[in-house]
Amino acid sequence: MMLLVTESDHDELARIASLSGLESDLLRGPGITRWLDRRARSLGLDERSHRAMLIESEEERRILSEQIAVPESWIGRYPVSFDLLHETAAARTKESSVFRVLSLGCAAGQEPFTAAACVLDAGIDASRIEVLAIDRSRSAIEMGSNGDLPSMAVRGDLPEYMRTRLQPSGRRWKVDDELRRLVRFIEADIVSESLPVAPGSCNAVYCRNVLIYLESDARDRLCRRAASYLAKDGIFFSGHADPPSDLLETLASIDRPGAFAWRRRGESDPRPKNTSSEFTVGRVASRRISPRPSKKSIDPTITPPAEQGSPEEVIAIQRLADLGRLPEARELAERLLVEHPADLSVLLILATIDSADGRVEAARDHLRRALYLDPDDPSALFQMVVLCESEGELDVAARFRRRMDRLATDGGPEE
Ligand SMILES: C[S@@+](CC[C@H](N)C(=O)[O-])C[C@H]1O[C@@H](n2cnc3c(N)ncnc32)[C@H](O)[C@@H]1O
Repeated sequence: MMLLVTESDHDELARIASLSGLESDLLRGPGITRWLDRRARSLGLDERSHRAMLIESEEERRILSEQIAVPESWIGRYPVSFDLLHETAAARTKESSVFRVLSLGCAAGQEPFTAAACVLDAGIDASRIEVLAIDRSRSAIEMGSNGDLPSMAVRGDLPEYMRTRLQPSGRRWKVDDELRRLVRFIEADIVSESLPVAPGSCNAVYCRNVLIYLESDARDRLCRRAASYLAKDGIFFSGHADPPSDLLETLASIDRPGAFAWRRRGESDPRPKNTSSEFTVGRVASRRISPRPSKKSIDPTITPPAEQGSPEEVIAIQRLADLGRLPEARELAERLLVEHPADLSVLLILATIDSADGRVEAARDHLRRALYLDPDDPSALFQMVVLCESEGELDVAARFRRRMDRLATDGGPEE
């Protein structure tokens, strides 16, 4: 349905966005416009009455927010950040105090479970580890509390310390009991609700790919709050696209490209001059690119294959997709693919976008092409397994899974 956008439409949408603490542009993307239209019809409402409901009802705004900030994550996302956590924990094995990790916007637990396994692997005794994981998505919190993770929680290769901790369980993954016991899940709004975290108590605070969704006041509040939870030498981890300008007020960046890590700003730290930092998307990307990228650490957001599409564009596509702006993400990706038809990372992102949008055959074509270019690409194989399973093509899925398993037992493809 074509919407006629008027001045009062903008005002209303801006009001709904502000009540939800969301960036108002996010409510105007084509994907969310289609969702709002479907949602109004399913409730038997016209567009105007549905907007009135969104203004009145906090529950309806919660449902809307879940459509925007989707609980999308995966195990070991941004591997360098977990390397830094590992080193930090390893330096504290002799102490007796609790090692506390907080994950704000934890999705179904992909991030806090990885952190728990990482700290354990670093040598901290389980009795000293506490991981608190908070998200407002009820379904994500339920899943994590049961020790379940969605199929797409595993992408590419797992960090060594997670390999023995996950078992396939139907279409999901099951986390082992030890990890499950270490992570406590809480359903709450991390911006507006009070949280059971003492100031200065956390060795690491993860707040990744959440700030990008929020309007500036909410971002500011969340940054200050998260910084206040950090222990004196605690580390704050942000996402690749989170706005550094908000963080620079309270935190100073740690020079570890790819970790997106920060520490508390001290008295002696110089005041920030401007908002450009190592977190500026283009610079991070170009530092992370190696001439021959390892197939073992696939993270399409920050390690796209070199000599192909520009890394900035690949990141921009991923960011749009993370924001649920699928048509825009697809348009950009398709344009990039015309210029670089053999760019595996673009093909994989396109397949993800098309799967999320229900365009199964288009997704399958992109995956076929990716596997033609690299028959051993673990991400392409894995996405193919998931796609075939969700289409009920169990035999074909099993064939691709066997190929994946063979790669794993052969020690993976040649570097
Ligand atoms: C894109 S996911 C990021 C997950 C993970 N931190 C990562 O970077 O992989 C964003 C998560 O933040 C959650 N979220 C967004 N706004 C929130 C809020 N105000 N309170 C609690 N959770 C929120 C969403 O439900 C979603 O699970």
